[in-house]
Amino acid sequence: MKIAIAGKGGVGKTTITAILSYLFSREGEVLAIDCDPSMNLALTLGVKDFKPLSELKDLIYERVGRGLIYKLNPKVDDVIEKYSVRNEDGIKVLVLGTIEKGGEGCFCPESAFLRAVLRHAILKSDYLLMDMDAGIEHLGRGTARGVDVMLAVVEPNVKSILTAKKIERLARDIGIERVYFVLNKDRGFEVGDLKFVAKIPFDERIIEADLKGIPPYKVCNLKPFERLKDFLTSVSRA
Ligand SMILES: Nc1ncnc2c1ncn2[C@@H]1O[C@H](COP(=O)(O)OP(=O)(O)O)[C@@H](O)[C@H]1O
Ligand SMILES: [Mg+2]
Repeated sequence: MKIAIAGKGGVGKTTITAILSYLFSREGEVLAIDCDPSMNLALTLGVKDFKPLSELKDLIYERVGRGLIYKLNPKVDDVIEKYSVRNEDGIKVLVLGTIEKGGEGCFCPESAFLRAVLRHAILKSDYLLMDMDAGIEHLGRGTARGVDVMLAVVEPNVKSILTAKKIERLARDIGIERVYFVLNKDRGFEVGDLKFVAKIPFDERIIEADLKGIPPYKVCNLKPFERLKDFLTSVSRA
């Protein structure tokens, strides 16, 4: 089961990734990858000590090379084991980090390395949850083929709806067939013309958990997330 979670900043991608990771971790080994340059997933899962892969410059140059010639398929099969951190509930988390770069489709060593790690994770993980940014940057055409489902998360505002529609187009362009909209922080308003596969209510306990620095799944109402998980299980089998 490989799920990518995307959407505009602030809609709840990281929260949803963390809670789904917890629910799936009752069934098997979960790897949660933070692909968002804002890097909040580890903290949300209660992991304070982590190093983003993008900062491991020596390793990156050793594996990819630098200068004019470098490998597009560097050796990365040991990276997840070495550099992921387990949280207290056994969820493995890996943080990709940020790349300073020169524009679209950059071919710097960092980007080649992170893409290779993601490709490897998609191939090898039983349960993989990816906390993406709105641009779904690290997913290329080749990688995307292994993604079972993309969730485009929306909150009750127009900008997040526009972003989600853009994400759906991007995802389809790179070959992800199952793209679904999820409404988060639902307060009962009529929200646009999107068809939502799940509506997750606004839950004050999620905010409390955030402020207290504990994972949201410890205190929030899990029911809506369990329904979303059941939906994901059913469509990825189909
Ligand atoms: N269902 C919800 N109810 C209430 N607050 C929520 C809910 N989901 C997320 N939040 C809060 O919204 C803020 C943004 O969530 P976050 O998951 O960090 O978004 P993103 O990763 O998309 O930027 C956080 O403060 C989080 O606690
Ligand atoms: Mg986030």
